[in-house]
Amino acid sequence: MKHRGRQDRHGENSTRERRVFVTRPIAEPAIHRLAAMVRVDLWDDEMPPPPAELRARARQADGVLSMVTDRFDAAMIRALPRLRAISNLAVGVDNIDLAAATRAGIAVGHTPGILTETTADLAFGLLMAAARRIAESDRYVRGGRWRTWGPKVMLGRDIHGATLGIVGWGAIGQAMARRAAGFGMRVLYLPGRRTARSAQSRRPRVSAGAGPSTPESASLERLLAESDFVSLHVPLMAATRHMIGEAEFATMKRTAILINTARGAIVDPSALVGALRAGRLAGAGLDVTDPEPIGANDPLLKLPNVVITPHIGSASHATRLKMAELAVDNLIDVFEGRRPRHCANPAVRMLTHRQVCS
Ligand code: DGY
Repeated sequence: MKHRGRQDRHGENSTRERRVFVTRPIAEPAIHRLAAMVRVDLWDDEMPPPPAELRARARQADGVLSMVTDRFDAAMIRALPRLRAISNLAVGVDNIDLAAATRAGIAVGHTPGILTETTADLAFGLLMAAARRIAESDRYVRGGRWRTWGPKVMLGRDIHGATLGIVGWGAIGQAMARRAAGFGMRVLYLPGRRTARSAQSRRPRVSAGAGPSTPESASLERLLAESDFVSLHVPLMAATRHMIGEAEFATMKRTAILINTARGAIVDPSALVGALRAGRLAGAGLDVTDPEPIGANDPLLKLPNVVITPHIGSASHATRLKMAELAVDNLIDVFEGRRPRHCANPAVRMLTHRQVCS
């Protein structure tokens, strides 16, 4: 897909065309809009470009429209002197070394906000599926094991009236709390990187009678000890890598269920398997795993009390379209001399205009 680049208002592109490498097919209206502005090199395959191919294509590009599966570590970024923008089709940017991008003057765009409700829908869906053994029941029926109604068949956990612990009080964590209110759940939350005080002021509104209490800020230890469901909503970074491990599982109720729609590596995978096998954790609903995709022989796949989906938190037609449009907007912003409207490295000194994102 090719289109002549247009000259930007600073006249910078008068002699060369802007080139954007798009690392996977995205929603058509967004890619057509991008192609009307710049020359698009599209990786038209379901599988991501291998690292060498990513490097070779990105090397010739001014911008990359990337996915969470495209790794931009410091070495990769050093190999891309021409690149000015990486626009990630995701809110998470743990696939990109932000410090290296900032040093290289590469603005990193991402897509927060628009995927909040869709991702919370899936997180709550996983909670329900794990609590009420929906996927397991489906396998039971399809496997021809449904012979009669039974008083002890597929007993699960009640969701209404239970306590939900939300680790991370960002937009998706709060959207999860709104869903919990509809089920009359008690909500505890760990404020995350922001202070408990600012989190208090951002409490979600809970309509009268919807739940037994308004969400309550708690330490991680108290949240883990008191929750029937623990749902993770923190970004992956050094401080959150394996933040849920053996010690944390030991603190949780044996009847508790863990939900992870954030990033697989927030949970120590062997501790998770150990806790599930030993009955120290009743179940898990996972949209993300470590590694991704999960290996065919991963022990989690053998455990009936685990529901796993393939990292589809934001995967609705409407949301993926909005994400693609925003990823394109972020790129166009850079090419027109502005910082991306959603800039993940606001300290970047943009090379073109010696302008600091703020
Ligand atoms: C994100 O946005 O970070 C998701 O993981 C991909 O939709």
